[in-house]
Amino acid sequence: MKVLVIGAGNMGLTYAEGMSKSKLLKKRNIMVLDTSEEKLEKLNKMAHFDAFSELKDCVPQADIIFIAVKPYHAESLFKAINPLVNPGQIIISIMAGVTIDNIKLLAGIPKIVRAMPNLPAKIGKGLTSFVASKDVSKIELLTVESLLDTTGKSIQVSNEGLIDASTGISGSGPAYVFYFMQSMMEAALQMGFSKNDSTVLVSQTFTGAIELFNQSNLSPNSWMDMVASKGGTTRAALDSMQGNNVNELIKDAAFAAFNRAVELGKEH
Ligand SMILES: NC(=O)c1ccc[n+]([C@@H]2O[C@H](COP(=O)([O-])OP(=O)(O)OC[C@H]3O[C@@H](n4cnc5c(N)ncnc54)[C@H](OP(=O)(O)O)[C@@H]3O)[C@@H](O)[C@H]2O)c1
Repeated sequence: MKVLVIGAGNMGLTYAEGMSKSKLLKKRNIMVLDTSEEKLEKLNKMAHFDAFSELKDCVPQADIIFIAVKPYHAESLFKAINPLVNPGQIIISIMAGVTIDNIKLLAGIPKIVRAMPNLPAKIGKGLTSFVASKDVSKIELLTVESLLDTTGKSIQVSNEGLIDASTGISGSGPAYVFYFMQSMMEAALQMGFSKNDSTVLVSQTFTGAIELFNQSNLSPNSWMDMVASKGGTTRAALDSMQGNNVNELIKDAAFAAFNRAVELGKEH
């Protein structure tokens, strides 16, 4: 099997690196194409990829074509690959807002997977949600899933609306965590800790809490009940958050990202 990654930017290279570790692919079975001279120079120095600048030299040989260019490049790219593709090939697109129907129409082939990654894919801890057109077989889906899993975990969703929804949770979610961390670091600084100590206090607290959560079957609510005793310090903090409706505000933020994903989809 051969995979072609189009777009050697942030995400394209992250997935190319991840897939290069897949047992499904033999060495040098990942081709990467980019239009930028600078990126090609960098790619040529990476021994585990074959770098291309011309679609005609790599598209026909690919079994899976992984699209990682910005959404505004989608139309011209798909029009250019249209005469080079065949109906047996699978396109996986991670472009935000570009729908399966649009890709089918422009690229002219039926097997399309639309996926939504997130930033921790860069360190193998990502979450990719994906949805496939009905023409992708069960066996092909297993292959796709296995390739996406090389950057962390993946979940298959039943419709494209849930891809927009996952943008609001896992896609934009890392930024919500950073927002919370930043607020806690600012509080630590105000309490008199150095910048360095504030960073360690907050980052280790997040790492520890998430590890605890991952190693248990308890819900976040159960963990909160365990650490917050009546009249205690944690209860004071949680009551303050509850009184300020932080719970609802976080949900509003997630829905704002979801709604924006829907709007962007309409623009494309
Ligand atoms: N970054 C994220 O966290 C994230 C999350 C979810 C989804 N995504 C999606 O991932 C996609 C890629 O994002 P990114 O941040 O990796 O973008 P990026 O760093 O800008 O990478 C895109 C690369 O594709 C190249 N390119 C543009 N047109 C091309 C063409 N026709 N053929 C081949 N290469 C072409 C670009 O070259 P130039 O620089 O010369 O244009 C650039 O090197 C986007 O569609 C985005 O919606 C990203």
